[in-house]
Amino acid sequence: MKEQVHQGSIPESLHVDTNNFPYARDFTTAGLDLMLLQADVEGGMYAVRIKFQPGLQLPTHKHTGVVHAYTLAGSWRYLEYPDSPANTPGSYLYEPPGSTHTLKIDDDNTGITDVVFIIYGAMLIQDDAGNVVAVLDAQSHIDQWTAALTAQGQGVPAFIQGGRAGYSAGRPIKLVANGS
Ligand SMILES: [Fe+2]
Repeated sequence: MKEQVHQGSIPESLHVDTNNFPYARDFTTAGLDLMLLQADVEGGMYAVRIKFQPGLQLPTHKHTGVVHAYTLAGSWRYLEYPDSPANTPGSYLYEPPGSTHTLKIDDDNTGITDVVFIIYGAMLIQDDAGNVVAVLDAQSHIDQWTAALTAQGQGVPAFIQGGRAGYSAGRPIKLVANGS
């Protein structure tokens, strides 16, 4: 990825060649390799490409925001929606805020399951009693993905981040009464 360039107020599109970008192996759980495509802390969203081994099941989680999921390979589903078709290559899945579910990769897959997730807000990881035991969001992925790559001896590449918001306290606004 080349250095970000701004042309006036029009930002450049930011490209990632995901076929030549590093996965953190066994990211938070064995059999899950994760690539962080972008993490926008200010905007409260992040995008990942994940490769799952057959049969993998993740802890139940609740989303505070929208998720878009596009499946490139394999087969997976959420255990809570037995009547919903499995996600297979070409599937697009929309998860509304508040969705709570348990991701399961089908046991009979012969190869990896490959999915791109675009995630807004946070994922609240729950234990069997429904208690929140971990919170995953854009910042946690920046921290954990870069730490995992470093620990695995892989370099940390430039990846798309926010940082352009330039928040400030703003200026006082003079209110004008109607009709004056
Ligand atoms: Fe989810």
